[in-house]
Amino acid sequence: MYDVAKIRADFPILSREVNGKPLTYLDNGASAQKPSVVIDAVNRAYAEEYSNVHRGLHYLSNLATEKYESVRGKIARFLNAPHEDTIVLNSGTTEGINLVSYGWAAPRFEAGDEIILSVMEHHANIVPWHFLRERQGVVLKWVDTAPDGSLDPQAVIDAITPKTKLIAITQCSNVLGTIVDVKSICTGARDKGVPVLVDGSQGAVHMPVDVQDIDCDFYAITGHKLYGPSGSGAIYIRPERMAEMRPFMGGGDMIKDVSKDTVTYNEPPMKFEAGTPGIVQTIGLGVALDYMMNVGMENIAAHEADLRSYAQQRLTGLNWINLQGTAAGKAAIFSFTLDGAAHAHDISTILDKKGVAVRAGHHCAGPLMEHLGVTATCRASFGMYNTKAEVDTLIDALELAHELFA
Ligand code: ALA
Repeated sequence: MYDVAKIRADFPILSREVNGKPLTYLDNGASAQKPSVVIDAVNRAYAEEYSNVHRGLHYLSNLATEKYESVRGKIARFLNAPHEDTIVLNSGTTEGINLVSYGWAAPRFEAGDEIILSVMEHHANIVPWHFLRERQGVVLKWVDTAPDGSLDPQAVIDAITPKTKLIAITQCSNVLGTIVDVKSICTGARDKGVPVLVDGSQGAVHMPVDVQDIDCDFYAITGHKLYGPSGSGAIYIRPERMAEMRPFMGGGDMIKDVSKDTVTYNEPPMKFEAGTPGIVQTIGLGVALDYMMNVGMENIAAHEADLRSYAQQRLTGLNWINLQGTAAGKAAIFSFTLDGAAHAHDISTILDKKGVAVRAGHHCAGPLMEHLGVTATCRASFGMYNTKAEVDTLIDALELAHELFA
């Protein structure tokens, strides 16, 4: 049985108060809280195990290298990647997608080549492609969501033309919670020879991921949403794509040999990991993934599905709330506006007074805001430790906000 009380007890911050009220943390889409095991591992790594990695021959450097490198295998297991060498460690999804843009796409794409994006993408999966549009004349093609926020995989496949070089798509919208059938998109794209990059920032948090089953070419994750430290992350890269990539950042660790006139690069994945990495952050991410895998991704998904239907039922019961995104396949992420003139920022300020943390604004999703015809929404995003009682607290706080602004 899923013991949410026990899980909550593992996250020290959840027992604090905010503005004199128990914290109701519903901003997991922005960043998740960390369990004690992660906090302890980070402290221990600095207090007892710290040194640079891959460089020294002394005890601590070997220990830190062993701890750091073991995370590559954990991430491979978490994503069911075929081998740990398909995992490039980095600071998060933004870096992962930029690596693909600079290292794989930029040298291969020409003016008029097309990249297909959904209108739900986060700026991290938009701006690196705008660089190619601005600098190389690459064309960005957008696929819209249906009014309920769902995305028809066939619409993405139908947008492919002989000019299409890449589909870059989220597995789960950070604004609407919509879960995208990325496996069907990959199947259709593969038939037409088009690689697919999946932004797994939100998806990997809420459901089991199997990159071999999805059959994508790139799958990017970010550690701070996975209950791990900020500044950690990774990208899975299909070996054929990795072989086609040139390095993005140059520096230490990614080379075999450097002379005045020549440079030879390290073998992948190290070829794509320049400089001293986020050593401790990555070690913390490994512990966070162990924690999630111990609880079980299927169990987390089932708990969150329960929260999602309860929250959706309660929110749709308020006729002054405009809920954005009600697709059947949806994570427990709810964006909404309130009838009347109140701005999302004002609503979130009222909620904060009640100890309820949500995000308000454009959520780094400009094209989606344009598509929805709004400038900002409030977003309540749930995680593995949230409860139905917290849904009730959110609703009570929203009722107060509604009274104040009605
Ligand atoms: N990507 C994060 C969010 O959706 C920051 O809030």
